[in-house]
Amino acid sequence: MGTAPDFAAGLTAAVTPILPGFGVEQVAEIDSTNTELMRRARAGRCEPVLLVAERQTAGRGRLGRPWQSTQDTAQRTSLTFSLGLPLTPKDWSGLSLAVGVSVAESLDPTASAGVRLKWPNDLWVDDRKLVGILIETAVPLGDAAQRYVVIGIGVNVGPREAEGLRMPPAWVQEWRPDATPGQLLLDVVPPLIATVQAFAERGFAPFAERFAARDALRGRDVQLSDGTRGHCEGVGWGGELRVRTAEGLQEVTSAEVSVRPSGMAF
Ligand code: BTN
Repeated sequence: MGTAPDFAAGLTAAVTPILPGFGVEQVAEIDSTNTELMRRARAGRCEPVLLVAERQTAGRGRLGRPWQSTQDTAQRTSLTFSLGLPLTPKDWSGLSLAVGVSVAESLDPTASAGVRLKWPNDLWVDDRKLVGILIETAVPLGDAAQRYVVIGIGVNVGPREAEGLRMPPAWVQEWRPDATPGQLLLDVVPPLIATVQAFAERGFAPFAERFAARDALRGRDVQLSDGTRGHCEGVGWGGELRVRTAEGLQEVTSAEVSVRPSGMAF
Protein backbone atom coordinates (compact mmCIF):
# COMPACT_ATOMS: atom_id res chain seq x y z
CA MET A 1 0.00 0.00 0.00
CA GLY A 2 2.98 2.29 0.33
CA THR A 3 2.31 3.47 3.86
CA ALA A 4 5.42 4.87 5.52
CA PRO A 5 6.65 2.32 8.07
CA ASP A 6 6.29 4.78 10.94
CA PHE A 7 2.86 6.16 10.08
CA ALA A 8 1.34 4.16 12.92
CA ALA A 9 3.72 5.66 15.49
CA GLY A 10 3.13 9.18 14.16
CA LEU A 11 -0.61 8.73 14.20
CA THR A 12 -0.69 7.25 17.68
CA ALA A 13 1.39 10.16 18.99
CA ALA A 14 -0.89 12.70 17.31
CA VAL A 15 -4.15 11.12 18.43
CA THR A 16 -3.49 9.79 21.94
CA PRO A 17 -3.68 13.25 23.61
CA ILE A 18 -7.26 13.68 22.37
CA LEU A 19 -8.27 10.00 22.45
CA PRO A 20 -6.52 8.06 25.22
CA GLY A 21 -6.10 4.35 24.53
CA PHE A 22 -6.12 4.86 20.75
CA GLY A 23 -4.36 2.16 18.76
CA VAL A 24 -3.43 1.62 15.11
CA GLU A 25 -3.47 -1.76 13.37
CA GLN A 26 -2.39 -2.48 9.82
CA VAL A 27 -3.21 -5.76 8.07
CA ALA A 28 -2.26 -7.02 4.62
CA GLU A 29 -5.68 -8.51 3.86
CA ILE A 30 -9.10 -8.67 5.48
CA ASP A 31 -12.68 -9.12 4.32
CA SER A 32 -13.65 -5.59 5.31
CA THR A 33 -12.26 -3.24 7.94
CA ASN A 34 -15.83 -2.18 8.81
CA THR A 35 -17.00 -5.77 9.13
CA GLU A 36 -14.07 -6.60 11.40
CA LEU A 37 -14.63 -3.67 13.78
CA MET A 38 -18.38 -4.37 13.89
CA ARG A 39 -17.63 -8.03 14.76
CA ARG A 40 -15.32 -6.93 17.55
CA ALA A 41 -17.80 -4.40 18.94
CA ARG A 42 -20.64 -6.92 19.02
CA ALA A 43 -18.30 -9.21 20.96
CA GLY A 44 -17.71 -6.41 23.49
CA ARG A 45 -14.39 -5.06 22.17
CA CYS A 46 -14.92 -1.34 22.13
CA GLU A 47 -11.47 0.18 22.22
CA PRO A 48 -10.74 3.22 20.03
CA VAL A 49 -8.84 1.87 17.04
CA LEU A 50 -7.83 2.60 13.49
CA LEU A 51 -7.76 -0.52 11.31
CA VAL A 52 -5.96 -0.08 7.99
CA ALA A 53 -6.04 -2.79 5.33
CA GLU A 54 -3.84 -3.10 2.27
CA ARG A 55 -6.53 -5.24 0.60
CA GLN A 56 -10.18 -5.96 1.34
CA THR A 57 -11.70 -9.09 -0.14
CA ALA A 58 -15.29 -8.07 0.68
CA GLY A 59 -15.23 -4.28 0.99
CA ARG A 60 -18.69 -2.85 1.56
CA GLY A 61 -20.33 0.39 0.45
CA ARG A 62 -23.58 2.12 1.34
CA LEU A 63 -26.94 0.54 0.53
CA GLY A 64 -25.45 -2.97 0.47
CA ARG A 65 -23.20 -2.24 -2.47
CA PRO A 66 -19.68 -3.67 -2.77
CA TRP A 67 -16.65 -1.39 -2.50
CA GLN A 68 -13.80 -2.25 -4.81
CA SER A 69 -10.34 -0.82 -4.27
CA THR A 70 -7.71 -0.60 -6.96
CA GLN A 71 -5.29 -3.46 -7.39
CA ASP A 72 -2.27 -2.01 -5.65
CA THR A 73 0.90 -1.46 -7.63
CA ALA A 74 3.47 1.31 -7.35
CA GLN A 75 1.24 3.78 -9.21
CA ARG A 76 -2.25 2.47 -8.54
CA THR A 77 -2.90 2.86 -4.88
CA SER A 78 -5.89 3.11 -2.64
CA LEU A 79 -6.42 3.67 1.04
CA THR A 80 -8.96 1.69 3.02
CA PHE A 81 -9.44 2.05 6.74
CA SER A 82 -12.02 2.12 9.52
CA LEU A 83 -12.01 4.18 12.67
CA GLY A 84 -13.90 2.66 15.58
CA LEU A 85 -14.65 4.37 18.88
CA PRO A 86 -17.33 4.55 21.57
CA LEU A 87 -19.65 7.50 20.93
CA THR A 88 -22.84 8.75 22.56
CA PRO A 89 -24.02 11.94 20.81
CA LYS A 90 -27.47 13.25 21.77
CA ASP A 91 -28.45 13.19 18.10
CA TRP A 92 -26.77 11.12 15.40
CA SER A 93 -28.21 13.02 12.45
CA GLY A 94 -25.56 14.64 10.32
CA LEU A 95 -22.59 12.58 11.54
CA SER A 96 -21.84 11.29 8.06
CA LEU A 97 -21.93 14.84 6.68
CA ALA A 98 -19.57 16.13 9.38
CA VAL A 99 -17.19 13.25 8.60
CA GLY A 100 -17.31 14.19 4.92
CA VAL A 101 -16.53 17.83 5.73
CA SER A 102 -13.50 16.81 7.76
CA VAL A 103 -12.09 14.46 5.13
CA ALA A 104 -12.69 16.95 2.29
CA GLU A 105 -10.94 19.74 4.21
CA SER A 106 -7.99 17.48 4.98
CA LEU A 107 -7.53 16.31 1.39
CA ASP A 108 -8.12 19.72 -0.20
CA PRO A 109 -7.65 22.41 2.48
CA THR A 110 -8.05 25.43 0.18
CA ALA A 111 -10.75 23.81 -1.99
CA SER A 112 -8.52 24.56 -4.99
CA ALA A 113 -8.68 20.93 -6.16
CA GLY A 114 -12.46 21.12 -6.28
CA VAL A 115 -13.25 18.39 -3.74
CA ARG A 116 -17.01 18.62 -3.16
CA LEU A 117 -19.43 16.86 -0.85
CA LYS A 118 -22.22 14.81 -2.33
CA TRP A 119 -24.96 14.25 0.27
CA PRO A 120 -24.83 12.34 2.46
CA ASN A 121 -21.14 11.55 2.48
CA ASP A 122 -19.37 10.96 -0.82
CA LEU A 123 -16.50 13.15 -1.91
CA TRP A 124 -16.53 14.09 -5.58
CA VAL A 125 -14.26 16.01 -7.92
CA ASP A 126 -16.00 17.16 -11.12
CA ASP A 127 -18.77 14.61 -10.52
CA ARG A 128 -16.22 11.81 -10.23
CA LYS A 129 -15.96 9.81 -7.00
CA LEU A 130 -12.86 10.35 -4.88
CA VAL A 131 -13.88 8.97 -1.48
CA GLY A 132 -16.60 6.68 -0.16
CA ILE A 133 -17.66 6.65 3.48
CA LEU A 134 -19.66 3.97 5.30
CA ILE A 135 -20.74 4.65 8.89
CA GLU A 136 -22.22 1.91 11.05
CA THR A 137 -22.99 1.59 14.74
CA ALA A 138 -22.97 -1.42 17.03
CA VAL A 139 -24.54 -2.00 20.43
CA PRO A 140 -21.78 -3.79 22.33
CA LEU A 141 -22.97 -6.99 24.03
CA GLY A 142 -26.55 -5.79 23.66
CA ASP A 143 -26.03 -2.94 26.17
CA ALA A 144 -28.36 -0.33 24.66
CA ALA A 145 -26.80 2.46 26.77
CA GLN A 146 -23.57 2.16 24.81
CA ARG A 147 -22.86 2.68 21.15
CA TYR A 148 -19.71 2.01 19.15
CA VAL A 149 -19.35 3.80 15.84
CA VAL A 150 -17.37 2.45 12.90
CA ILE A 151 -16.40 5.01 10.27
CA GLY A 152 -15.09 3.29 7.15
CA ILE A 153 -13.34 5.32 4.50
CA GLY A 154 -12.03 4.37 1.06
CA VAL A 155 -9.86 6.86 -0.82
CA ASN A 156 -8.60 6.61 -4.39
CA VAL A 157 -4.99 7.73 -4.01
CA GLY A 158 -3.54 6.86 -7.42
CA PRO A 159 -5.13 6.62 -10.87
CA ARG A 160 -7.73 3.99 -11.58
CA GLU A 161 -9.83 2.81 -14.49
CA ALA A 162 -13.54 3.63 -14.67
CA GLU A 163 -14.37 0.14 -15.93
CA GLY A 164 -16.60 -1.78 -13.55
CA LEU A 165 -17.37 1.26 -11.39
CA ARG A 166 -20.81 2.83 -11.01
CA MET A 167 -19.35 6.28 -11.56
CA PRO A 168 -16.04 7.55 -12.92
CA PRO A 169 -13.26 7.83 -10.36
CA ALA A 170 -11.13 10.77 -9.21
CA TRP A 171 -7.87 10.33 -7.28
CA VAL A 172 -5.76 12.42 -4.91
CA GLN A 173 -2.60 12.23 -7.01
CA GLU A 174 -4.36 14.37 -9.63
CA TRP A 175 -3.43 17.42 -7.51
CA ARG A 176 -0.96 15.87 -5.05
CA PRO A 177 1.28 13.72 -7.27
CA ASP A 178 3.41 12.59 -4.31
CA ALA A 179 0.49 11.60 -2.07
CA THR A 180 0.91 8.24 -0.33
CA PRO A 181 -1.60 6.31 1.78
CA GLY A 182 0.57 6.72 4.89
CA GLN A 183 0.83 10.49 4.52
CA LEU A 184 -2.88 10.79 3.83
CA LEU A 185 -3.67 8.87 7.01
CA LEU A 186 -1.57 11.36 8.97
CA ASP A 187 -3.41 14.23 7.27
CA VAL A 188 -6.92 12.84 7.61
CA VAL A 189 -7.22 10.87 10.84
CA PRO A 190 -6.35 13.37 13.64
CA PRO A 191 -8.77 16.04 12.33
CA LEU A 192 -11.37 13.33 11.74
CA ILE A 193 -11.24 12.25 15.38
CA ALA A 194 -11.48 15.87 16.54
CA THR A 195 -14.48 16.28 14.23
CA VAL A 196 -16.26 13.21 15.61
CA GLN A 197 -15.68 14.45 19.17
CA ALA A 198 -16.95 17.95 18.29
CA PHE A 199 -20.00 16.39 16.63
CA ALA A 200 -20.74 14.35 19.77
CA GLU A 201 -20.69 17.59 21.80
CA ARG A 202 -22.47 20.00 19.48
CA GLY A 203 -24.12 18.05 16.65
CA PHE A 204 -24.07 18.93 12.95
CA ALA A 205 -25.02 22.63 13.14
CA PRO A 206 -21.41 23.92 13.51
CA PHE A 207 -20.52 22.01 10.31
CA ALA A 208 -23.46 23.14 8.19
CA GLU A 209 -21.80 26.18 6.61
CA ARG A 210 -18.64 24.21 5.88
CA PHE A 211 -20.74 21.55 4.17
CA ALA A 212 -22.57 24.23 2.17
CA ALA A 213 -19.26 25.68 0.97
CA ARG A 214 -18.48 22.37 -0.77
CA ASP A 215 -21.98 21.09 -1.53
CA ALA A 216 -21.92 19.26 -4.89
CA LEU A 217 -25.74 19.22 -5.29
CA ARG A 218 -26.97 22.62 -4.11
CA GLY A 219 -28.47 24.60 -6.98
CA ARG A 220 -28.77 21.55 -9.26
CA ASP A 221 -31.74 19.54 -10.46
CA VAL A 222 -31.64 16.16 -8.75
CA GLN A 223 -33.46 12.87 -8.70
CA LEU A 224 -33.87 10.54 -5.74
CA SER A 225 -33.72 6.76 -5.95
CA ASP A 226 -37.44 6.67 -5.00
CA GLY A 227 -38.23 8.53 -8.26
CA THR A 228 -38.71 12.02 -6.76
CA ARG A 229 -37.35 14.86 -8.90
CA GLY A 230 -36.65 18.40 -7.82
CA HIS A 231 -34.20 21.24 -7.34
CA CYS A 232 -31.64 20.89 -4.54
CA GLU A 233 -31.62 23.72 -2.01
CA GLY A 234 -28.70 22.34 0.00
CA VAL A 235 -28.71 20.83 3.48
CA GLY A 236 -30.45 22.02 6.63
CA TRP A 237 -29.02 22.49 10.14
CA GLY A 238 -29.75 18.86 10.98
CA GLY A 239 -28.05 17.51 7.85
CA GLU A 240 -31.27 16.88 5.92
CA LEU A 241 -31.19 17.32 2.13
CA ARG A 242 -33.64 19.99 0.98
CA VAL A 243 -35.25 19.26 -2.38
CA ARG A 244 -37.86 21.59 -3.92
CA THR A 245 -40.32 19.37 -5.79
CA ALA A 246 -43.54 20.14 -7.65
CA GLU A 247 -45.37 19.25 -4.40
CA GLY A 248 -43.25 21.56 -2.22
CA LEU A 249 -40.10 21.30 -0.14
CA GLN A 250 -39.07 17.74 0.70
CA GLU A 251 -36.52 17.19 3.48
CA VAL A 252 -34.67 13.94 2.88
CA THR A 253 -33.13 12.24 5.89
CA SER A 254 -33.29 8.57 5.08
CA ALA A 255 -29.97 6.79 4.70
CA GLU A 256 -31.79 4.40 2.38
CA VAL A 257 -32.32 7.07 -0.25
CA SER A 258 -29.76 7.80 -2.92
CA VAL A 259 -29.58 11.08 -4.84
CA ARG A 260 -27.99 12.04 -8.14
CA PRO A 261 -27.84 15.14 -10.31
CA SER A 262 -30.54 14.79 -12.97
CA GLY A 263 -29.38 12.73 -15.90
CA MET A 264 -26.72 10.80 -13.97
CA ALA A 265 -27.41 7.08 -13.56
CA PHE A 266 -27.82 5.53 -10.09
C1 BTN B 1 -19.70 3.99 -0.41
O1 BTN B 1 -19.21 4.76 -1.23
O2 BTN B 1 -20.78 3.41 -0.63
C2 BTN B 1 -18.97 3.74 0.87
C3 BTN B 1 -17.66 3.02 0.65
C4 BTN B 1 -16.90 2.77 1.93
C5 BTN B 1 -15.65 1.98 1.68
C6 BTN B 1 -14.81 1.83 2.92
S1 BTN B 1 -13.25 1.10 2.57
C7 BTN B 1 -12.95 0.89 4.27
C8 BTN B 1 -14.24 0.47 4.91
N1 BTN B 1 -14.42 -0.97 4.82
C9 BTN B 1 -15.45 -1.31 4.05
O3 BTN B 1 -15.81 -2.47 3.81
N2 BTN B 1 -16.05 -0.20 3.58
C10 BTN B 1 -15.40 0.99 4.05
